[in-house]
Amino acid sequence: MANLVVIGTQWGDEGKGKVVDLLAEQADIIVRFQGGHNAGHTLVIEDKVFKLSLLPSGIIREDKITVIGNGVVLDPWVLLKEIKQVRSQGINISADRLLVADNTPLIMPYHSNLDQAREKATSNKIGTTGRGIGPAYEDKVGRRAIKAGDLKDVDLLWKRLKVASEYHGFEVQQVFDEIITIRDEFLQYVNPVAEWLNEQADAGKHIMFEGAQGSMLDVDFGTYPFVTSSNTLAGMASIGSGVPHNKIPNVIGITKAYTTRVGEGPMPTELHDDVGWHIAEVGKEKGTVTGRDRRCGWFDAVQVRKTCMLNGCTGIAFMKMDVLDQLSSIKICVDYIDNTPVYEEMSGWRTSTIGMTQYSELPIQAQQYVDKIEELIKTPIVLISTGPERDQTILLNDSLF
Ligand code: IMP
Repeated sequence: MANLVVIGTQWGDEGKGKVVDLLAEQADIIVRFQGGHNAGHTLVIEDKVFKLSLLPSGIIREDKITVIGNGVVLDPWVLLKEIKQVRSQGINISADRLLVADNTPLIMPYHSNLDQAREKATSNKIGTTGRGIGPAYEDKVGRRAIKAGDLKDVDLLWKRLKVASEYHGFEVQQVFDEIITIRDEFLQYVNPVAEWLNEQADAGKHIMFEGAQGSMLDVDFGTYPFVTSSNTLAGMASIGSGVPHNKIPNVIGITKAYTTRVGEGPMPTELHDDVGWHIAEVGKEKGTVTGRDRRCGWFDAVQVRKTCMLNGCTGIAFMKMDVLDQLSSIKICVDYIDNTPVYEEMSGWRTSTIGMTQYSELPIQAQQYVDKIEELIKTPIVLISTGPERDQTILLNDSLF
């Protein structure tokens, strides 16, 4: 397996967790490179359900090394809590299998407070997760962030907090005391990661980069201002880890068989009728992080074609097609005229595809749906997911696995 990056091609929640976990089997190292604990990955492994928001999905495979790269904004309290929770589910997490880049900016308590207060006060609501992601990225570019490695030197930490407090107006002593209580426990994971990752890549180790959110939430190319505060596109894997782009040849785009979105902002193919409710119910479309209902709609091929281009997708994993099993007709947005979606209607298959493992098993209408989308988005579909379990998968291209 060549090094690869896995990203969402829509508005997040495409089902990255399952694919990342499948691909993790072949990887030696799994890296998160952007976002923070606004992400939510649900992994179903046999009878266990793991809900991760910050730890790379590879953490649940004990023979893998996982990395939180500098492109992430990291809440150290949340990290330690999540480690505890995953450990309580029987997974061994030690400092030799979880590395945090020392140049990773931290989310501090004042960031989440600010995020929530702003959302309450503004007339321009984004519907953020309220986790402090935006304010933490602002501090990073505003050159007043506290970075993970700063905790190694308490004098430096104090100085950095003072600079941040000039802007945010918090009591330095209080925040200092709070962070000092978790300092040792947190620092055991903190390392200069970029050099190590490059050495591993040069030694032929397989690295998988795990994206969070989705391409339409990218701060540059998404539906601005209704976006997250990081670059979610594949190119960010390099910047957010220090591994140059020419060492990451494969880009797997995760695409749901329909569209969902959490939070505010445009969603042209949104359904406000029974079909939308049906998709939401069958697809269990509730946010992993905030528990909010996701807005549901038809597949937008124009959007996914564009995000495949922006990411340079080399293959698509097509998720949750079984959610459409009972529909008598299915629409695909194939074009826009005056900002209004133009749909092509196809007949549904009205039979269960759950758990199918061969393309040839799929009803002909489902095959036609897959083929049509592949043609429209101009990118090969390499995997079709037919349920949440690892083995509920149709592999169309074994070369990645
Ligand atoms: P923030 O990332 O908390 O700043 O929220 C900005 C926007 O991104 C909001 O619309 C969130 O609902 C959305 N968002 C953030 N993380 C995720 C995710 O993992 N999946 C889907 N939407 C997300």
